[in-house]
Amino acid sequence: ALRGSFVTKAQKATQRSQYGLQIQASYKVAILGAAGGIGQPLALLVKMSPLVSDLHLYDIANVKGVAADLSHCNTPSQVLDFTGASELGNCLKGVNVVVIPAGVPRKPGMTRDDLFNINANIVKTLVEAVADNCPDAFIHIISNPVNSTVPIAAEVLKQKGVYDPKKLFGVTTLDVVRANTFVAEKKNLKLIDVDVPVVGGHAGITILPLLSKTRPSVSFTDEEVEQLTVRIQNAGTEVVEAKAGAGSATLSMAYAAARFVESSLRALDGDGDVYECSFVQSDLTDLPFFASRIKLGRKGIEALIPSDLEGLTEYEQKALEALKPELKASIEKGIAFVQKQP
Ligand code: NAD
Ligand code: LMR
Repeated sequence: ALRGSFVTKAQKATQRSQYGLQIQASYKVAILGAAGGIGQPLALLVKMSPLVSDLHLYDIANVKGVAADLSHCNTPSQVLDFTGASELGNCLKGVNVVVIPAGVPRKPGMTRDDLFNINANIVKTLVEAVADNCPDAFIHIISNPVNSTVPIAAEVLKQKGVYDPKKLFGVTTLDVVRANTFVAEKKNLKLIDVDVPVVGGHAGITILPLLSKTRPSVSFTDEEVEQLTVRIQNAGTEVVEAKAGAGSATLSMAYAAARFVESSLRALDGDGDVYECSFVQSDLTDLPFFASRIKLGRKGIEALIPSDLEGLTEYEQKALEALKPELKASIEKGIAFVQKQP
């Protein structure tokens, strides 16, 4: 339903603009890392949104050309480019949604945690600027390892005295997109109908698709559950290996991130029926951050959806317990990274 309404609203806006009627573009979106593999296609998809009035593209290099190129598309938003730390503040002022895909991607043989040393600093610096310039914005963290970069962002915002846990999101939409695709393929279902909640975190076994909660209701054999779960958990690695050194998922990630941006904008715009999975501060388990379905509203997270974690199968319950130590360690590593700095 979410994907359907994204397309329909975009099409409607295109029609309206073709006929010169009023369109409702009024939100400002910033992408930090906009010249990168994810940043560029994401910027294009956000440029297509009827809800966006201003699209601010920031990177440390190569963003001028991306913005010039995109600015020729006859969709509502104005595109501005910002290069380097001295322009970051201006990029962020007045922004409603900040998306952060800045940082290095994996190469074959690496884990997401191997990116920590470089990306932790990048996320810390960028979130400090968000805190200083648009503390009220929804913040979407894509940079890996998400299981640590989201806690890093939370600590930075706390130190700055502006942390609102309802507005900080680790983007795990790609896990849901993949789960929906793989389940529809395997069970011969119409893609548009399939929705699989994916909980936990965003790395290896911390990615836990709750296949028993698939809508519409589907039954799986034990072998199917095992095979689908492992494929969803390893889907990022599948792309890293296929790209053979040229990076990780960018196009499917941009698609997933654009869906999460559009959902956030619809929530900001007053739509009362917006649900997504995201890695957020949570009290659904004993871990301080946990990905689950959430209800989005004008002020960010309106509710966590606990029912997905009720009545799990034995397989899911075991997988949930098994992922906790790794997820806990990644969260603590992120928190310690910020707290130990002078
Ligand atoms: P990329 O190398 O193609 O692009 C990264 C961009 O970030 C580059 O343009 C680079 O100049 C920019 N950058 C680096 N340092 C910066 C800084 N300090 N400020 C602003 N921009 C900076 O990489 P990519 O393929 O776009 O991936 C980006 C990140 O997203 C990686 O960490 C990757 O692991 C992660 N990722 C996450 C998911 C997810 O599901 N959450 C999916 C795919 C990739
Ligand atoms: C993904 O799931 O595709 C991303 O987290 C990138 C990666 O390193 O696998």
